Amino acid sequence: MDKKKRGKMQYKIAVIPGDGTGPEVIREGLKVLGAVSKKVGFKYILNEYDLGGERYLKTKELIPKSVLKELGTHDAIYLGAIGHPDVKPGILEQGILLKLRFHFDQYINLRPIKLYNPEFCPLKDKRPEDIDFVVVRENSEGLYKGMGEFRNKGTKKEVAIQISYNTRKGVERCIRYAFEYCRNRNKKKKLTLCGKTNVLTYAWDLWQRTFNELAREYPDITTDYAHVDATTMWFVKNPEWFDVIVTDNMFGDIITDLGAMIQGGMGIAAGGNINPEGISMFEPIGGSAPKYTGKNVINPLAAICAMGMMLENLGEKDGANIVENAVIDVVRTKLKSLAAGKMGYTTQEVGDLVVESLR
Ligand code: IPM
Ligand code: MN
Repeated sequence: MDKKKRGKMQYKIAVIPGDGTGPEVIREGLKVLGAVSKKVGFKYILNEYDLGGERYLKTKELIPKSVLKELGTHDAIYLGAIGHPDVKPGILEQGILLKLRFHFDQYINLRPIKLYNPEFCPLKDKRPEDIDFVVVRENSEGLYKGMGEFRNKGTKKEVAIQISYNTRKGVERCIRYAFEYCRNRNKKKKLTLCGKTNVLTYAWDLWQRTFNELAREYPDITTDYAHVDATTMWFVKNPEWFDVIVTDNMFGDIITDLGAMIQGGMGIAAGGNINPEGISMFEPIGGSAPKYTGKNVINPLAAICAMGMMLENLGEKDGANIVENAVIDVVRTKLKSLAAGKMGYTTQEVGDLVVESLR
């Protein structure tokens, strides 16, 4: 969204509940949105879109052009989950989720990793202050660009080529965002580049050079580098070393699932697909969880946190803080676990607890 539109007090939000447990968690997110808007005093209108596996199975449509165009008139998109057990893997992910990320040039995937309650951390002796960092994942290029080819497909001589495509422009805008984010976040003021310079010598040469060049413009930020394999080790051993991490699309995908686990699991992990100059999209990162669908047992906190990130992005900082504090309160004082079916409450009850807490 245009910076000028931020904090404008009335927002037009597109809602895509999507597949599986998506609709259940989005319902709770919208419940909390309703409560926080009353408390803070901003207004919004919602438009729902039935994109996802069900629609695809019925109509063979992924996203009609007209829907893309309409989505483009909103201030933000709030997404539940995309993925359906009856649809071949890749079709919905590429045709809907990645399509939206690319179409709206949401070139940042912002994934905060924050431990709210040490009881839910699988790591021994880690306190909330030890696990509090943010992954800035490049979200428009790399291996996700879909470049490559088969040669001699189906034969013994088959070769499958998958290209990691990295442009100076794409790398630079992502790294710059990470430096700025790190500065504004104002915590450890440390930015770690997570890559693989020892093997992927084209892509990571470009990343490293760009990182080093931009670092000169940010003398207040300490810079660091870690190979992606070592990064996964540090996540488990010394997560307190991290403040902001910047990485490419594929590595970011992988390390943020591990990040989700150390912050307490997929039940709490949220992310934002951000175009700082355009329309951003917010989602719980856990997926559609078909086996829990319709059972009222899935944890809605990830979706509620994603809604909080959306408020922050819209310029409703107070609202975002209120949501986060209510989530922290519920996670610290109410829930038995963050895992589906083990929370001690139903999906709807957890939504109600957040609403009660923020009142
Ligand atoms: C994520 C997901 C997606 C990704 C899939 C569903 C395409 O794993 O948001 O992390 O790989 O980016
Ligand atoms: Mn992922």
